[in-house]
Order: sequence, then structure tokens, then C-alpha cells
Amino acid sequence: FKRHGLSVDHVSTSETNVTVSLDAAANEVDRDTLAALVEELGSFCRVQIFDGCAAISLVGRHIRGMLHELGPALEVFEEHRIHLVSQAANDLNFTFIVDDEQGQRLVQRLHELLIRAAPDDRIFGATWEELTATEGFERKRRRVRAWWSVERRRLLEITPLDHAVYVYDIATIAKLAGRLRGLDAVDRIFYAVKANPHPAILHALEHAGVGFECVSPGEVHRVLQTCPRIKPERVLFTPNFAARSEYDFGFEHAGYVTLDNLYPLRHWPEVFEGRSIVVRIDPGHGKGHHRYVRTAGSHSKFGVPLFELDELEALASAGRIRIVGLHAHTGSGILDTESWKDNAVLLGDLSRRFTDVSALNLGGGLGVPEKPDQPALDLDELGELLLSVKSAYPSLELWLEPGRFLVAEAGVLLARVTQTKGKLGVRYVGLNTGMNSLIRPALYGAYHEIINLTRCDEPATELVNVVGPICESGDQLGNERLLPPTEENDVILIANTGAYGHAMSSQYNLRKPAEEIVLEHNSGYTENVSTKEELGQNCTV
Ligand code: LLP
Repeated sequence: FKRHGLSVDHVSTSETNVTVSLDAAANEVDRDTLAALVEELGSFCRVQIFDGCAAISLVGRHIRGMLHELGPALEVFEEHRIHLVSQAANDLNFTFIVDDEQGQRLVQRLHELLIRAAPDDRIFGATWEELTATEGFERKRRRVRAWWSVERRRLLEITPLDHAVYVYDIATIAKLAGRLRGLDAVDRIFYAVKANPHPAILHALEHAGVGFECVSPGEVHRVLQTCPRIKPERVLFTPNFAARSEYDFGFEHAGYVTLDNLYPLRHWPEVFEGRSIVVRIDPGHGKGHHRYVRTAGSHSKFGVPLFELDELEALASAGRIRIVGLHAHTGSGILDTESWKDNAVLLGDLSRRFTDVSALNLGGGLGVPEKPDQPALDLDELGELLLSVKSAYPSLELWLEPGRFLVAEAGVLLARVTQTKGKLGVRYVGLNTGMNSLIRPALYGAYHEIINLTRCDEPATELVNVVGPICESGDQLGNERLLPPTEENDVILIANTGAYGHAMSSQYNLRKPAEEIVLEHNSGYTENVSTKEELGQNCTV
């Protein structure tokens, strides 16, 4: 390598394989140099070049022992190739070669699984963010003070003794809607009602100028009952595998109906004859915080695949159907802007083919960090890339349909401690509600910050599993959380539960899920104040 003027970034070896990474850009590798290198290496071994790739290595002792933990991280690769996996014979290193653009995703997933999951492990020490924190970063982290820490006293007062409650802060929703409405390139925002259909939330969003995306007649009815004067063009109906009658319903009650399969056009063309529709396209690969919420690609049931576009065109022209919008939604809980860019490029391209198209719906999925040190979605970056799409297609409207982003942070779940327990080195804190109110940790392994609101100012010294009263071992709200020594009747706050919390709750075990309370206004939502100072370490967001 030296002879060819190439610097090697990383070497990983196994018994039958040596993988060497070169940073092609830094090395300015030209074809001739590479060819000469390959020829020379060819006298020792078979050489294979993976171009445009990233090598991701796990390094540590007994790395093989953690292979079983890697499954969820590798799920991201359902639709992408892993070119090579090599495991060092000395069990110190495990390397994956993946496409360059997938590298960051894999690193993030591995980090979440293996490193964030063990926050207090001395081996890992300080987080990357902490190590590289500049003063600006620290300030930025402190600037955002959760509404619920300001409202702590009020929340402690309103938490009932005998049942749990969701509490929503409408001011936070209005603020978040304002941020999205501030994206110049975005013409319309449709709130994904499934995230939280509480009437007060719908009212607030209607008032903020947001429209509604509904996936069922029930959601459409809820919107029309709550906002009776709303114009139809602010209601978008996006059902999936719906019965024929639901499309009739949609055309009657909603301004736009989205079709995500050709079956209805093939089998019930009369329902769509002469209508205008939006078509949901499957861009080919999904994204999101868990495989259940990745809604594109071969493993997902949503969207018209690209290979059916000729048939779509033929069916539409036979039925005099106008395709006025193209839609793509790749998944939920996405924290980088790449997928909206990809959707925009794809749909923009397709709009040249479907000439009645006047809007591109780039979907929802805007993620919200689960943990305080996780980087947030960069809205400025999203705004800029959408502006560039807008300038390429100035005659097209751009739509977004976020759910989580608008409501997740506005909701908290408040529950009381019922019992505590220690068993074989594991401590449990039991609450008066569990997966019947909040199923996300059990279903997706989702992380929600958990705070003992009663004892915010006491040092967090106990590592506990926070569980509910439901008859399943999966009834866990958070594992290995640091809390102050916790007692019966303490109020436990579970943060970021405004989205897909109450909406996904159930009566399982015939236990009523948490009720909902709306805070009409919150006093003194302030910025630039360190929560740590006022409420103790445990309340910092
Ligand atoms: N548009 C469409 C077509 C969708 O299917 C969804 C969500 C959204 C918009 C809104 O996605 P959001 O912006 O909220 O990420 N229960 C899961 C999320 C499922 C989302 C399903 N579709 C969770 O708790 O994470």
C-alpha cells in the first residue's frame, strides 16, 4: 500500500480474510493506482474491491459473545446489502461492509443497542457529545426546558391517587406547529390524527392552520365533529387495505383520497371514475425507529410499487381518473433528513410522467429524540433541502403529514408507585398502569425518559426496572433506569408520550388505561434556565 502511495485507515483480519479500508476521497485514488495495487495483491490472495462502502467494526474483548444482540441493528438491512461480514480469529473485532450511505444508519443502531443501552457502563465513559461538547452545545442542551419540569407542582397535584393520567400541554403543540409552519417550502401540513386524536389537540392544530391526515372513517368523523367548519381540502383520507365502501365515504367527506394499491382500480373502477386521487408510491426502502414502523420496501404492505406504474397509468386513463398528488411515507421516527430528500427526488421525477399532479406529499415520520443527548432532526436542513426541491418544481405544492413531531413532547404519562421489589439483584418499581396505557416500550423497545417527579431533587442512586400491573413479562415501561430510592405513591412521570400513547392504549386485563387531562395553559415556560439547578439532576431534559 505504501508503494502505491495509499494510506490504510483500518485493517481487520480473520482466519481467511483481510479487510482493508481506504478513504478513497482522502487518498485521491485513481483507477490506474488501484489496478496496480490489485495486481500486486493478486499474487498473495484473491482481491475484491467494494466501492462506495463503509466498514463498521465492533472492537472489544469476546466480541462474538454479543452477536445475538445485533439482530435488531441488522434489521435495517432487510432491503440493503451487507457486502461482507468478517470476524477476527482473536475474537477482538467484528466488521461489516455496507453501502456508504447505510453506514451512518448502522452505526446509529449499533450505538443505540450496545452503547446507549448501557449508559452507566464505566468502559464507555463519557458520550461522544460530552467529550466534544463546546460551550455552544452545552448552552443548546440547556436551552430547552421541558414544559413538565416547569409545571412540576401542578402535575403532582393533579395526579390521582388511584389511576394514571396522560397530561397534554397545548402550548407546546402550538409551538411545534409554528416551527413546521415556518418551513417556507412547505405549502400544507396534514397532522396524522392517529398519533393522538384528542379533540383539544385537533382544535389547537386547526387553529394553527394545520390540516388532518386520517386513516379511517372514525378519524375523519372525529375531525369533522371537532372542527365542523373545516374546509374539505384540509382533510386527507389515506386508508390502507380498506373496504370498497370506505372509498365512497372518503370521496364524500374528505378533500383528498389517497390510494395505495391498484386492487381498487382493477376491481372497483366505477368508484374512482372521473375522480381526482392522490397515489401513494412505495419508494422501495423504508426507514424508522423499528421494523414495524418502516412503511416502504418489499416487507411493507403499503404503497404502489414502481413496477406497477405503467398499469397505474393505464387504469387511470381508462377511468378518466386524475392523479393530482403523489405521496410517499417511508416510516416513523426518522431523525435524518435524507428520506424526505429521496422521496422528493423520486416523486418530483414521477410528476413529469403524471401530468395532472399538483402536489407532492412527502409523508410524515419526523422523529423526536428519545434521549436527551440524541441529536434532534435538523429542521433547518430539512427546510433547505425542501426549498431546493421547490425551486426544481416551482409549480408543485409540497406537503408534509407529521404525527409524532407535533404531539410527542406535549404529553406525559403520570402514574403512582404501587409496590417495589428486589429479586436476585434486580430492583423493580411497580406502577398503577403499564402496557395497557403505553405499549411502545413492549412493542418496539421504545425508550421513554422516566422521572420520579416526587423526588426530583434527590440523587438518583438505584438502578430499577419500571413495570406495570399487567400479566405479561413484557409489561415494562423502562429497564435499568436510575431513579432516587422510590416509595409507594410517588408520582412517576414518563416523558414524550403525547404521540401513540393513549391512541394505542387498551383495556387489556380489563384495566382501564390512563385518562387524559389537558393543561389549558402553562405558566412561565422559560428557556435558558438549567433544570438541573432547580429540580436536580434527574429532571434535566
Ligand atoms: N403518514 C402516514 C401515511 C403514516 O402511515 C404515518 C404513520 C404518518 C404519516 C405519521 O407518522 P409520524 O410522523 O407520526 O411518525 N405507533 C408507532 C408509529 C406508527 C406510525 C404509523 N404511520 C410508534 O408509536 O412509534
